[in-house]
Amino acid sequence: MIQTITTTPFSDQRPGTSGLRKKVSHFQQPHYLENFVQAIFDTQTALKGGTLVVGGDGRYYNRHAVQIILRMAAANGVNRVIVGAGGLLSTPAASAVIRKYQTQGGIILSASHNPGGEDGDFGIKFNSDNGGPAAEQITEAIYARTKTITHYAIVESEEIAIDQPQTTALGEMAIEIIDPVSDYAELMESLFDFNAIRTMLASGTTLRFDAMHAITGPYATEILEGRLGAAPGSVINGIPLPDFGGHHPDPNLAHAKELVEELFSATPPDFGAASDGDGDRNMILGANFFVTPSDSLAVMAANAHLIPAYRNGLSGIARSMPTSCAADRVAAHLGIDHYETPTGWKFFGNLLDSGRATLCGEESFGTSSGHVREKDGLWAVLFWLNILAVRQESVAAIVQQHWQQFGRNFYTRHDYEAVDATTAQQLMTDLEQRLPSLVGTELAGLEVSSADNFSYLDPVDASVSKGQGLRICFSDGSRIIFRLSGTGTVGATLRLYIEKYEPDPQRQSEETQTILQPLITAALELSQLQQRSGRSAPDVIT
Ligand code: G1P
Ligand code: ZN
Repeated sequence: MIQTITTTPFSDQRPGTSGLRKKVSHFQQPHYLENFVQAIFDTQTALKGGTLVVGGDGRYYNRHAVQIILRMAAANGVNRVIVGAGGLLSTPAASAVIRKYQTQGGIILSASHNPGGEDGDFGIKFNSDNGGPAAEQITEAIYARTKTITHYAIVESEEIAIDQPQTTALGEMAIEIIDPVSDYAELMESLFDFNAIRTMLASGTTLRFDAMHAITGPYATEILEGRLGAAPGSVINGIPLPDFGGHHPDPNLAHAKELVEELFSATPPDFGAASDGDGDRNMILGANFFVTPSDSLAVMAANAHLIPAYRNGLSGIARSMPTSCAADRVAAHLGIDHYETPTGWKFFGNLLDSGRATLCGEESFGTSSGHVREKDGLWAVLFWLNILAVRQESVAAIVQQHWQQFGRNFYTRHDYEAVDATTAQQLMTDLEQRLPSLVGTELAGLEVSSADNFSYLDPVDASVSKGQGLRICFSDGSRIIFRLSGTGTVGATLRLYIEKYEPDPQRQSEETQTILQPLITAALELSQLQQRSGRSAPDVIT
């Protein structure tokens, strides 16, 4: 019953920042998904006779893809597949399951925060046996295989039942359908002081968690309302929908509007948070207060000793290059190492595996620790709730005290989306050529101390990743960074990241965009970004 299907390669199956992402209609081309899945089996030979985890964020095409993957796994000699019921697993839960059951890896179906539905995006990625996104050598090997593929193997089968936890089989392969939430919830309970959080919530602290009609709905309902006793209704938009209700499931000030309005209303809850399509991102809010992801990482690091799992200290802190340098200052204070990696969670894998870093974070609303090998939205929410339960102060007070102690890194990111790809590439090439001549000159009244295209030498495996973003650094710690997104599906997305360090507490309550305006203007003048892209403003400011 194994069928060998003849196919021809697609030229566009190189995984980006986080797996292969395309429009649903692109994935619906005959053999498109199958070619990529076969390339995974052909290159990841440990899966033969091994165990594979499969799950996704529930977006349109998720269910179809799960059926295909199960049938192909059986045809490729996989011994056992662990599937989240309904084909669902949040990205951090998939990472936790891969690790807990010591499997040979997992296939995660998600396009993260990108819109879903029939006209939206779909995505697929392979995570290795450490639970983390496959390293670049692996994604490149998979890509290389997609370019030479001639056949794929699949078994014929009726629709496989995946909605109820149970163990079934497909040919020789065992299929274990598991509850997608319980392993993850148990892991969270082992890391945090649930009793302290429960007591805080019972004594009147209010919270709102926006699941954005995405995968964290069932997780948040079980953990926040079920196990921690948050008032019913604390979780909003908690039912996952294949099109996320037509919204961008991206937890930021632009897309989590309903939540932001409530937190900035006259009667706000004490704490607010949201997560994205696949549950790995987080946004943290206090009453009338927004915590930037870069600050969130720094505050978490500075307060980690209050959390049971991190009571004995952190080994190191890692952040992606465009993330603000706020966490570096905490690392220096704690006397531990800090690391600056390229954008994308996969670069944290080696640091976590080797025990060099405990906490990792990205400016793009991502934070996590060594408990999994993905960023983890609900984990970050629980981390903050645990800090609040111990300190019994407001979110705003905690962050403001942090700035007083460490200084404030004012920070913003401006995204120009769906820019013509050639224009964007040319802009980057032109700007890169001018970088050496900028060093020593003044921009926005500040002295440029260095300017380069960021290149990363992995301290563990000595691999080098070049071309990771253009950085212009100033002698006062300010930075301007230009980077092309690796996750977009239409044209190019140009990201402009701006940061300015302010040690003076008197000036730390100013408005971010105002403080950063001179640097933003300088960046736009230097790159001619708006003239070249034909845009007068960014599409999204975070
Ligand atoms: C974006 C974020 C990056 C994150 C990735 C996956 O990638 O900037 O930090 O790891 O999504 O969630 P980008 O589109 O910038 O390549
Ligand atoms: Zn995500």
